[in-house]
Amino acid sequence: LSSIEVDISKIMPGQGIKTSWRKQPVFIKQLTPAEIQAANAVQLSELRDPQSLADRTKPGKAQWLITLGVCTHLGCVPLGIGEGETKGDFGGYFCPCHGSHYDTAARIRKGPAPLNLHVPDYEFASDTVVRIG
Ligand code: FES
Repeated sequence: LSSIEVDISKIMPGQGIKTSWRKQPVFIKQLTPAEIQAANAVQLSELRDPQSLADRTKPGKAQWLITLGVCTHLGCVPLGIGEGETKGDFGGYFCPCHGSHYDTAARIRKGPAPLNLHVPDYEFASDTVVRIG
């Protein structure tokens, strides 16, 4: 089976879960309004891998950020999805292996990683179920 369905009904704003798809970790996070605002306040010209939050989310669902939990440097699993884990200097994810910092849209902002956390193919099966793959 190449796709999985994930119930997102219990994920509150500011929270996220880690699941897995094709043996890779996947982060599903519901952004807070402040996290959305922070992502939208960044000029694309400041970014190493220029993408807007809208480029990385579905129309009308900017609060749902779904990415692989795989650092684009050498593939470690970044911190920031679990309760109390550090989110790094830009409020998103932090890869402890060599110090890559990702922002609230999971875009690379500092450290050696070349690219944003990858957004897998997914769709909303309903308001509370996401189908990944
Ligand atoms: Fe993440 Fe190197 S693997 S910074």
